[in-house]
Amino acid sequence: MNADAKKTVLRMIPYGIYVLTADDGQGNIAAATVNWVTQSAFAPPLVVAAIKADSGAYKTVKAAKTFALNMLGKEHKGVAFGFFKPTTVADGKLSGQPYHKGATGAPILDDAPGAVECKVTDIIERGDHHIVVGEVVEAHLQKPPAGRADAAILEMKDLGDNVFYGG
Ligand SMILES: Cc1cc2nc3c(=O)[nH]c(=O)nc-3n(C[C@H](O)[C@H](O)[C@H](O)COP(=O)(O)O)c2cc1C
Repeated sequence: MNADAKKTVLRMIPYGIYVLTADDGQGNIAAATVNWVTQSAFAPPLVVAAIKADSGAYKTVKAAKTFALNMLGKEHKGVAFGFFKPTTVADGKLSGQPYHKGATGAPILDDAPGAVECKVTDIIERGDHHIVVGEVVEAHLQKPPAGRADAAILEMKDLGDNVFYGG
C-alpha cells in the first residue's frame, strides 16, 4: 500500500468536532476534543466514538461507564483547541468552560448548542483507539439551530488547513 495515498484518501472523510466528557464519580473528570464519532443505530439510539486507548479520557470513560458528547458550534474553534490539551478543573470550570452535570453525571458544557449523554454498552478493543459504543439516554438542546442541525456545527475543515486527525 502507498502510505501517502492511504493518508490522503482517509483524510477525505469529513468530520464534525465534539468535546467528549466523562466523570467517574471518584474525582476524575475528563474532556477531550474528538472527531471519530458517528451515530450507528436508530433503535436503540447508538453512537460510537473511537477513543485513544492510552488517554486519560479513555480511562475515565471506562470507569464512568457513561459519557457525554458536546456538539460545538462554528464559533467554538477556541473551545476545540482548548480540549486538545489535558483537562483542568478550576473555579467550577472545565478547561475554562462553564459546565453543569448531566443526568448521568457527565459534564455538559453550558455553551454547547447541544449534547447527548450515553451509557457505554460495548467497547471494541482494536488498534490504538478503542471503539466505545454508547446508547443515548439523554439529549440537551441548549441552542436550537436556525436551519439544518448539521449546518451550525464545527467541522474539521473549519480548524485550518493543517489540522487533521486521520490518515
Ligand atoms: C484534530 C484532533 C482530533 C482529535 N480526535 C480525537 C479522537 O477522535 N479520539 C481521541 O481519542 N482523541 C482525539 N484527539 C486527541 C485528544 O483531543 C487529546 O488526546 C486529548 O485531549 C488528551 O487526552 P488526555 O488528556 O485525556 O490524555 C484529537 C486531537 C486533534 C488535534
